[in-house]
Amino acid sequence: MDQHVVVTAEAGICTIRMNRPDKKNALTHAMYAAMAEAVSRAEADPSVRVLVFAGTGDAFTAGNDLNDFLGITDIETTPVAGFLRALSRAAKPVVAAVNGTAIGIGSTMLLHCDLVVAVPEARLQFPFINLALVPEAAASLLLPRLVGHQRAAELLMLGEPFDAVAAHGLGLVNRIVPAEKLAAAVAELAGKLADKPAEALRRTKALLKAEGDSVPARLGAEAQAFTRCLHSPELKEAVAAFFERRPPNFRTL
Ligand code: COA
Repeated sequence: MDQHVVVTAEAGICTIRMNRPDKKNALTHAMYAAMAEAVSRAEADPSVRVLVFAGTGDAFTAGNDLNDFLGITDIETTPVAGFLRALSRAAKPVVAAVNGTAIGIGSTMLLHCDLVVAVPEARLQFPFINLALVPEAAASLLLPRLVGHQRAAELLMLGEPFDAVAAHGLGLVNRIVPAEKLAAAVAELAGKLADKPAEALRRTKALLKAEGDSVPARLGAEAQAFTRCLHSPELKEAVAAFFERRPPNFRTL
């Protein structure tokens, strides 16, 4: 595992921390590879219920290490693509703790997270056009879907920075909390997710991300997932807890 990525796990929450503060956590190929591996391991580890991405110092990440950009012949064969595949396929809930600057992939990866908490000082940016590049991480699909064409066009075609309040207004950030409360706020949210029935949560995420946008197709997909949930031990526990007038405990299932 690369020294610039620190992975810890506690109480069902796996935290993947970008840890290269002197370079604003700019991501090298080694860091992408380490993060992809961390995501894959967390996905395969039944004790992990939630993934958290975090930064160090005053940056979440300043995006791709620009030194690494120059030597690439095909981005598809780099660890960047491997990381994006792993993150975009993550079936478990993913929370981001945006502690500061979030540029390039620092912003695009948020489109693949489920809950995003940011500090007021966070500065986000999709700078690709300014580097004569195009969007990555399926941002050209996910961003207009989230914010509409015109606002996505502004973000991707002007490439200007924006703050946490703007990101919240766009729907890219769920909550803004002061820096000193960020860790606690993220721990609380991740803990809530970890207490939820994992199988139903996984199916909810899959439905939220399902491609195909017709109502009949979605009704069918939801009905299929709903039926599977009806036969789960999680449902039995939820119903039993209701009748026994106690909180459900899904963690041991
Ligand atoms: N790749 C490589 N190194 C980076 C980097 C990146 N994306 N972003 C920052 N760094 C390095 C700087 O070169 C600098 O290194 P040095 O101390 O050895 O000179 C160090 O991190 C601190 O950055 P600096 O620019 O001095 O800090 P700042 O507070 O003035 O500005 C940023 C911070 C993030 C706004 C600015 O560094 C920046 O715009 N970075 C590039 C962002 C970018 O375009 N990313 C690519 C996305 S595809």
